[in-house]
Amino acid sequence: MTTYLITGASRGMGRALALELMRDAGVRVLGVARNKVALRKLEELAGSETYPGVFIAGNFDLTELDEDIFQDWLRPYLPLTGLVNNAGLLINEPFDSMDERKWKEIFEINLFTPVKLCKLLQNSFVRGGHIVNIGSMGGFQGSSKYNGLAAYSASKAALTGFSECLAEEWRNKGVGVNCLAMGAVQTEMLETAFPGYEAPINDEEAADFLKWFLTKGKRFFNGKVLPVALQNP
Ligand SMILES: NC(=O)c1ccc[n+]([C@@H]2O[C@H](COP(=O)([O-])OP(=O)(O)OC[C@H]3O[C@@H](n4cnc5c(N)ncnc54)[C@H](OP(=O)(O)O)[C@@H]3O)[C@@H](O)[C@H]2O)c1
Repeated sequence: MTTYLITGASRGMGRALALELMRDAGVRVLGVARNKVALRKLEELAGSETYPGVFIAGNFDLTELDEDIFQDWLRPYLPLTGLVNNAGLLINEPFDSMDERKWKEIFEINLFTPVKLCKLLQNSFVRGGHIVNIGSMGGFQGSSKYNGLAAYSASKAALTGFSECLAEEWRNKGVGVNCLAMGAVQTEMLETAFPGYEAPINDEEAADFLKWFLTKGKRFFNGKVLPVALQNP
C-alpha cells in the first residue's frame, strides 16, 4: 500500500489533498490535525465508492507532540512514500504590535514542526520518497510583501531554505524534498486573515495540483522552491 502522511488534514488544502489521494484504492492517507471530529469525517468517507482509499486519523497537536506516542501510532503504517508538511498558522498583525509569543507560535508550527517531523522520520521513507513542504509566496524571495505578515512570511522563507538544504543532505537516501510557495487559495486561513478577499483558486483546485506534485513531482524536481501563483512576482 502507498502511504502518505499529511499534516493539517482537518480542513483547507490538507483535507482536500487527503480526499484527492483517497480517490485511489491502494492509497493510505495518514492525516494529522487537532480537530478530532473533522478527522473522523474523513475516516467515514474512506472506503466509499468515491474514496476507496484508506484514511487513518492522527489526532495530535504537532506543537506539543509526545514523540513516543506519535511514533507508536505511525509505526504500523511505515514506510512512507510521501510527507506533506502542510499544517500552518497565519496571524495577520503589524510588526510593531506583534509580541514575541506570537512569533514563536507561528515559527513552531510553520518551521519547527516540519523540521521535527523530518528528523523523526529520517529512516521512515521508501527510496524514491517525496517530502513536500507547503510554503507561501509571502516567503518567496522577490515577491510582493504585505503589512502584517512579517512573522508568517519569515517562517515560510525559513522553510524554503530548510527544504533546499534537506534535499542535499538526503540526496543519498533517495528522498526528494521540495517546497511549494503557494499563492492565495480560498480557505479558512485566507478568509480569517483577509476577510472579503477572493482567491483565484479554491482548495480542491489546489489539491488537484498538489496530488500531481506529491505523486509525480519527485521525478522532475528536487531541492526546489516553486512558486505556485498566477501573479506576484
Ligand atoms: N490559503 C492560502 O492562501 C495559503 C497561501 C500560501 C500558503 N498557505 C499554506 O498552506 C498550508 C495550508 O493552509 P490552509 O489555507 O489550508 O490553512 P487552514 O485552512 O487554516 O488549515 C490549517 C491546517 O493546519 C492544521 N494545524 C494548525 N496548527 C496545528 C497544530 N498545532 N497541530 C496539528 N495541526 C495543526 C489545522 O488543523 P487543526 O486546527 O484541526 O489542528 C488545519 O488542518 C499552510 O501551511 C499555509 O501557511 C496557504
